Amino acid sequence: MTERMHLAFDLSWTHLEGRWRMPGSWTGRTYPDFRMYEEVARIAERGCIDMIFFGDGTGIPSTWRGSTAAAIQWGIGWPRLDMSPTIAALSRVTSHIGFGLTYASTFMHPFYTARLLASLDHLSGGRIAFNVITSSRRADAANYGFDELMEHGLRYERLEEFIAVCKALWDGIDPDAMVWDRETGQVGRPGAVRAINHAGAFFKVRGPLNTPPLPQGRPVILQAGASPRGIQASARVADVVFGASKSLELQVQHRQELDQALAAEGRAAGSVGILWDILLTVGETAEAAQRQKQALLEAIPLEAAGAFISHHAGYDFSQLPPRFSLKELNERIAATQASPVGFVYRLAHEFGEATEMTRDEFFRQGMQEATGFNDTFAGDAVQVADRLEEIFVATGSKGGFMVAHPQCTPRDLLNVVDFLVPELRRRGRFRESYEGTTLRHNLLGQA
Ligand SMILES: Cc1cc2nc3c(=O)[nH]c(=O)nc-3n(C[C@H](O)[C@H](O)[C@H](O)COP(=O)(O)O)c2cc1C
Repeated sequence: MTERMHLAFDLSWTHLEGRWRMPGSWTGRTYPDFRMYEEVARIAERGCIDMIFFGDGTGIPSTWRGSTAAAIQWGIGWPRLDMSPTIAALSRVTSHIGFGLTYASTFMHPFYTARLLASLDHLSGGRIAFNVITSSRRADAANYGFDELMEHGLRYERLEEFIAVCKALWDGIDPDAMVWDRETGQVGRPGAVRAINHAGAFFKVRGPLNTPPLPQGRPVILQAGASPRGIQASARVADVVFGASKSLELQVQHRQELDQALAAEGRAAGSVGILWDILLTVGETAEAAQRQKQALLEAIPLEAAGAFISHHAGYDFSQLPPRFSLKELNERIAATQASPVGFVYRLAHEFGEATEMTRDEFFRQGMQEATGFNDTFAGDAVQVADRLEEIFVATGSKGGFMVAHPQCTPRDLLNVVDFLVPELRRRGRFRESYEGTTLRHNLLGQA
């Protein structure tokens, strides 16, 4: 049987970073007007999309020139709400779609996070996913008492312990813990709610978690590690991996590395799907899609692009010398504990490590990165479906795509639901209706 793919909408930056003024976006509505999210959730559920996803960050980008000025002036990574109340509200106007929420294990406490996610899982009837990240963003770290980024490997040790604590807390409540017997007055079964007595390198948590058992047992765990250590962590903790947009060759390599890491953890190769982050412009015609993609290059000024790439790399590119090699630059980035596999690594992969660039050449690439131009695949529904199938077939089972950072909302997402989804269905690649009511059921097939 033709395997079906999963689709999610990544709304992390809806209506920000220049996208709020692109043709096809709402006019007269600005972030964070709740009606925008409500409208998108209804569109997505009409298309039987698996999940709406929200990434997160708590700092205002300030790596560029050591200042928040450019970020605030141009709306780069700012403003930004904690999305858990929005998810709570959205769960009341939808019935099947899941919600992905992001918190950084580098800064948060697992007891608070496990309890919050349990509460949301109840409110939504079992439709919550937790995207657990290790933050490499200096502006975020500075809000939680760090002068420097935590060492890359240590971030992942903390992430693994964080998830172990969360899972122990959720598993410490048996599914039949609640009794609610009106005759006797018994509410719960004492033996069904257990302390965890965790004492580790980062956290000390006695438990038990004081919530009823979760509708899903545990929220679905998403993880986006991309470095070798990050991939090892996803093999240890993830139900689904969130993979960065990159060349097909690098995606196939990521799949292979994940399968090796899964085997090393005693999990079957292919048992964890990858949802690939993908930027799509689906047009009624191929020409219309290409025209729309070109408009991306006008979305933000150069300074805004500098603030964007510096924030995401954790490295101030305003200080670049007039000329440098990509290898040398990536080594300098890795030495600062930022991610070794970010934008510059991908440039080095594309152009060759030894390639030298001038500042102007680098910032031209940076503009394409910041606007999503480089990664945007534009085409009509048939072309886009061909592209998705190619990646899906090459990178293994149980996965799919996270349609990310839409260029304009709601037009882009309407086009996905009205043009792309029917084309994928014609090919037997996408569901006709939701299989169940929990995210665990729809996304992982675990009823
Ligand atoms: C698709 C995707 C989504 C991500 N979302 C976030 C996010 O919302 N917030 C954040 O601070 N980092 C986010 N990250 C960064 C990752 O947590 C991680 O730092 C990055 O993938 C680098 O991998 P490494 O830590 O293994 O070097 C995301 C990464 C990817 C690939």
